[in-house]
Amino acid sequence: MLSYQHIYHAGNLADVHKHTVLAVLLTAMKAKDKPISYMETHAGRGLYNLSSEEAIKTGEAKLGIIDCLEHKRHLLNKDYLGAVEKVQKILGKEFYPGSLMLARILLRDEDEFNLMELHPKEYAALHHTMFDFKNVHTHKRDGYEGVLALAPRRPPNPSRGFVLIDPSYEVKEEYDKVVSFIAKLHKKWETAVVMLWYPVLKEGYHKDMVAKLADMGLPKTYSSEVTFSALKNAEGIKGSGVFVLNMPFGAEEKLADIGELFN
Ligand SMILES: C[S@@+](CC[C@H](N)C(=O)[O-])C[C@H]1O[C@@H](n2cnc3c(N)ncnc32)[C@H](O)[C@@H]1O
Repeated sequence: MLSYQHIYHAGNLADVHKHTVLAVLLTAMKAKDKPISYMETHAGRGLYNLSSEEAIKTGEAKLGIIDCLEHKRHLLNKDYLGAVEKVQKILGKEFYPGSLMLARILLRDEDEFNLMELHPKEYAALHHTMFDFKNVHTHKRDGYEGVLALAPRRPPNPSRGFVLIDPSYEVKEEYDKVVSFIAKLHKKWETAVVMLWYPVLKEGYHKDMVAKLADMGLPKTYSSEVTFSALKNAEGIKGSGVFVLNMPFGAEEKLADIGELFN
């Protein structure tokens, strides 16, 4: 099923949480000067217009990044804020960078980007936005299959890597799928930093998945779950969660106060 379109949700509170963690992890990895191979299983389009009909219809960005920029700017991580401001300075205040645009801004020319997106319309928009960027490869392909195919096998080619897994969770099976994907990915590319995003819903679908990930004995794990006080009386998403393995050195301290943004 491919009915999800991130334009309805771009820049919402979950994006602020996910993209803040992403910015902190990539900034920490960049401290070493070896190149990074960056991949996404579920890329989206990379750039979102928050004044579009779709974004205005849900109003999610208004409660998310727009409110944070107006009232909580001092609480935003400086690397995340810097990347958002860079996009808005060039393209206008109505634009918001998706995960891969943030990664492209925060990483370097020598780093390599492989981005998977299956939805035909989203892929067309992604390709249109990114085709001219150095070392960026877009793939109209299933993200789980694509990343596993491109992940370097050790030996002979250990490579510093980062994989973002950001599914739309349109079906409940997705929670099991990510667990088996992470197991396969880690077996093949054990040094890669892997970041998984998941929604916190009142039904608690994520709980079983989080427990299974905790039981896998993965190295250097980190989790961040936040509750959105602004949505406490709303239907739908209640909070946002991130699970990381091979957490980069120095990143955890930078995220110690992340919950404050959502209180
Ligand atoms: C949550 S959005 C991605 C948002 C993006 N990572 C960001 O933070 O800016 C999930 C995307 O995954 C795409 N998608 C869904 N199933 C997929 C699959 N099996 N492989 C690749 N992309 C898929 C959807 O079309 C959608 O664009």
